[in-house]
Amino acid sequence: MKKLALVAVVVAVVAMMAFGVYAASDIRNTKHNLASWGPGTYKSTNYSEICVFCHTPHAAGSWPLWNRNMTGVTGFITYSSIAFDVTASDIDSTSKLCFSCHLATTSPTTALNNPSNLKNNAQPTFNFIGIRHTAAIGTNLRDDHPVAFNYTNAQLAHSEIDTASNVATKLNETTTSLFPNGDMTCSSCHDVHGKLDSGNNVIPVLLRRSNASSMLCLACHLK
Ligand code: HEC
Ligand code: HEC
Ligand code: HEC
Ligand code: HEC
Repeated sequence: MKKLALVAVVVAVVAMMAFGVYAASDIRNTKHNLASWGPGTYKSTNYSEICVFCHTPHAAGSWPLWNRNMTGVTGFITYSSIAFDVTASDIDSTSKLCFSCHLATTSPTTALNNPSNLKNNAQPTFNFIGIRHTAAIGTNLRDDHPVAFNYTNAQLAHSEIDTASNVATKLNETTTSLFPNGDMTCSSCHDVHGKLDSGNNVIPVLLRRSNASSMLCLACHLK
């Protein structure tokens, strides 16, 4: 009996490793750790928490308990092309979160929605002046992979695109994490929190799957 129980436990653990644990992540050793002890170039000089630069437990601006003031994040030039089958909206609500920092301008990047959430009301000394050109996506989205459109509508119009649920299976994700509100977003390809691979290493460039051999692209594009 004992042996059987042990086998059952081993089977359960292996099954969890294969299917159960969706997208475990570790933000600490990524460029999104903006705390004073973070590994990147851009970080606070006086504040040691991590989540606060994006989330607050109270008095949040919007989903997901968002702690950045996004006034001024407007005026997007949407993607279009002769081959693009759907119309992109101005910007979807998830991608918009990224643009509270990934703009070419510097103004919205320092603004926390709720600085009073910080201990002793201490504003973090922190800005992205000089954020690298390639990380400053800016509001012109014509030169970026299209986002801000309904994924399923595009998939139905384009036979080379795989279904949302097949993509989710390939990337070991849920359809809602990949396509919040049904949208193709920045988060369809990126995990802001630093997704871990099977060896517990953060996947480079905060991607949902390593793009070695273009395997991320091939998850959606049946080329
Ligand atoms: C650089 C910004 C940033 C930082 C720092 C950050 N998050 Fe997030 N978080 C986001 C964004 C953007 C979303 C929504 C989109 C998404 O999930 O891709 C999100 C979503 C979430 C969600 C809801 C969806 C989910 O993934 O379960 C939780 C919970 C969460 N974050 C927790 C945390 C915690 C805890 C920390 C600190 C350890 C943290 N986040 C740090 C940007 C950030
Ligand atoms: C609080 C500000 C902030 C928010 C919000 C934010 N980022 Fe970032 N992100 C940064 C900074 C700062 C860097 C580092 C830039 C550099 O070093 O050039 C960075 C770097 C990155 C990188 C490069 C990582 C690497 O290892 O090279 C990616 C990819 C990225 N962000 C994607 C996103 C996406 C997608 C979102 C929204 C879902 C998002 N970010 C939201 C501040 C932010
Ligand atoms: C179709 C998938 C896909 C989408 C959608 C996408 N990215 Fe990326 N992104 C990538 C890949 C792949 C890389 C790595 C490119 C490389 O290493 O050359 C990358 C790189 C980046 C970098 C790092 C650039 C650098 O040089 O450090 C940032 C920042 C970034 N993306 C932000 C965003 C933001 C913000 C959005 C939404 C507007 C977004 N991405 C949408 C796939 C995507
Ligand atoms: C999460 C799914 C997903 C991933 C990952 C993805 N794409 Fe796409 N891509 C799409 C969808 C959906 C469209 C829109 C198809 C359409 O309607 O034209 C698209 C459109 C495109 C287009 C055509 C744009 C046009 O004008 O018609 C190109 C080129 C492209 N993707 C390249 C890439 C490359 C290269 C990668 C990897 C770096 C990648 N994609 C990763 C879903 C994805």
